[in-house]
Amino acid sequence: MSPAMPDGPTLKQLFETEPDRLSRFTFNLAGIYFDWSKTHLDTGTVDQFLDRAQRMGFAAARDALFAGDVVNSSEGRAATHVAERGSGAPEEVDLATARRQRMRALVDAIEGGAFGQLTGILHIGIGGSLLGPHLLVDSLGRRASTLTVRFLSNIDGAAFDEAVGPLDPATTLVVVASKTFSTLETLTNLDAARAWLRAGGVADPDGRVIAVTAKPEAAVEQGVDETRILQFGEGVGGRYSLWSSVGLSAALALGWDAFEVLLEGAAEMDRHFRSAEPRENMPLIAAFADRLYVESFGCQTRGVFAYDERLRLLPFYLQQLEMESNGKSVTKDGQPVQWPTAPVTWGGTGTDAQHAVFQLLHQGTIVVPVEFVAVSEADDDQPAEHHRLLLLNAFAQGAALMDGRASDDPQRSYPGNRPSATILLDRLDARTLGALVAFYEHRTFANAVLVGINPFDQFGVELGKQIARQLAESADEESLDPSTRALIERAGV
Ligand code: F6P
Repeated sequence: MSPAMPDGPTLKQLFETEPDRLSRFTFNLAGIYFDWSKTHLDTGTVDQFLDRAQRMGFAAARDALFAGDVVNSSEGRAATHVAERGSGAPEEVDLATARRQRMRALVDAIEGGAFGQLTGILHIGIGGSLLGPHLLVDSLGRRASTLTVRFLSNIDGAAFDEAVGPLDPATTLVVVASKTFSTLETLTNLDAARAWLRAGGVADPDGRVIAVTAKPEAAVEQGVDETRILQFGEGVGGRYSLWSSVGLSAALALGWDAFEVLLEGAAEMDRHFRSAEPRENMPLIAAFADRLYVESFGCQTRGVFAYDERLRLLPFYLQQLEMESNGKSVTKDGQPVQWPTAPVTWGGTGTDAQHAVFQLLHQGTIVVPVEFVAVSEADDDQPAEHHRLLLLNAFAQGAALMDGRASDDPQRSYPGNRPSATILLDRLDARTLGALVAFYEHRTFANAVLVGINPFDQFGVELGKQIARQLAESADEESLDPSTRALIERAGV
């Protein structure tokens, strides 16, 4: 059985029949080269998707996002992450700027010794309140940071033990990020951190806690002093929040200037998304390819492989961004969707993944559109040959997926015609990372507009949370199904 491919030219045929294909489907932006030429997009499909974008009101939806209008209809609010980068309703931009100044003052005070000589930061949060800052620090902080920054999300005590392992309670600052300040995992870990500080000889553990939240009153209720709360806007969704004060740990680890450059990189991508011609609009073109694979090829997943150790957290970051935003079944008006929405985003790090999962990508019975993310310039202490081989491996995989290789022996035959896109950063720095993350945000938004859904809510995660809360309060055995009841009894919880 081979994968069901719709009728149409193969990738190799597309390169033969469209001599200008490389220039039409590659884009240079903000120090990043985007190559979508090894996808099945062609002039015809792009034209069709452009019509669809018009029918779905893409331009108006994008204008509404950047004007600070209500685009999160189910929750009746704007999505103001772009205001953090200078676009949006003037009052939102002013508010974001004022809040950023406060954040900067706090960073300056911390660097000036307001909390003593710090050696570490324990960042507590989960989902969007952690994945962004973690990505930033892991990507850019390897050489820049003199602080040991540890990230703690899971309620599992083993995660706590591991996170605090290398930290000294006497010289660690705790940053708790939670939009709602009501998340079970985060509040449980905050209590554990206070106990850890106290046990480590810190007389006033609360004096070492900084809260970052859209609900300052909830943080105060949880015992955080209001002078140590950084507020961010209700319109900043968790998975879009790294630009706000949720990025505090990253700003401390990387330095304030780097944080500002990150925002500038994102603003550069914002300007492109707002003003580039649709045919040259990179997030939109990427969304067209996403739609093509999900809708016409029936692909249910997309694989993202970072060919750079510094970007190893990118697939995890994107999982939340894309799946929590667009994993929906009803339109923003509550009607069943007409098209499949988000595929599963998954991935890993190259070259490791080549020796684990790429077998299926080359010869399996399903087609997985693959995305390679690599960086031209190395930043390691090893001979240049390491990086050269790393990059050549990434490019070889894309070529092999597309070209395939015929053989008389079916076991050794590679069908080819399998799509991939490549994102090549000139170097990995705050500017390019800011632009890259903003690219993914806008691509997610463009996908949502093309299928008519609201990417800014996430009601799907609520039911499981409610049931867990009920069970934690009182396991009302009678109302439970037999399987769940048996599991609770067996585990003795
Ligand atoms: O459970 C999903 C979620 O609500 C995400 O959307 C969010 O990023 C995460 O939980 C954390 O929420 P909070 O920032 O309110 O603690």
